Amino acid sequence: VTTFIGSNVGDWHVKELKPIRGESIPSVSRLQIEDHPTSVQLTGIWKLCGFVSNIRYANQSERKKILAIQEGLGRPQATCAALIPIRKNEAWWNLAQDERRAIFEEQSHHTAIGLQYLPAISRKLYHCRDLGEPFDFLTWFEYAPKDAAAFEELVIALRHTEEWKYVEREVDIRLIKV
Ligand code: HEM
Repeated sequence: VTTFIGSNVGDWHVKELKPIRGESIPSVSRLQIEDHPTSVQLTGIWKLCGFVSNIRYANQSERKKILAIQEGLGRPQATCAALIPIRKNEAWWNLAQDERRAIFEEQSHHTAIGLQYLPAISRKLYHCRDLGEPFDFLTWFEYAPKDAAAFEELVIALRHTEEWKYVEREVDIRLIKV
């Protein structure tokens, strides 16, 4: 389980924290990411936890395309990041797997849209619904300052999709590594 801790300590400086839909979370100046469980007491204004899981929706050919072009996290030029916690509504979770896949890709083209922004944007998806967390997903992205406008275009495109009609809570946290 990875823990994202918002407080006044951490490598990532919070540039902006704003609610897109639903309730926001408290403003903080820094973000610290703890990848391993630690015996040290983690203190912060807020903590969000998530874990990397198996894929649910991408098919083999989409998976192959992503793997062929994506770049990993931690690139030295990628000094910008976004942490976007998202919760989907009950209507989404009441759908069957094949219905969710159809909304996600055939109707919303999530992967097809996202692929256009690779390798500039690197990404990691954390699941947290099963942990009883306030969000279902913690999405993490890293990019170079020159790709900030492209990232903006990407989030706007996704927020206009059918899939996003099921998003009931979303907070957009933008960060800079100093
Ligand atoms: C950078 C380009 C992007 C690519 C290539 C991409 C690709 C994907 C893929 C393939 C999945 C499905 C994983 C699975 O099969 O379980 C996924 C899930 C997800 N992505 Fe993206 N994505 C991108 C950008 C974004 C952005 C910018 C956001 C948020 C604003 C986002 C939010 C999510 C969420 C919340 C899920 C989980 C959906 C669910 O399981 O219901 N993605 N993404």
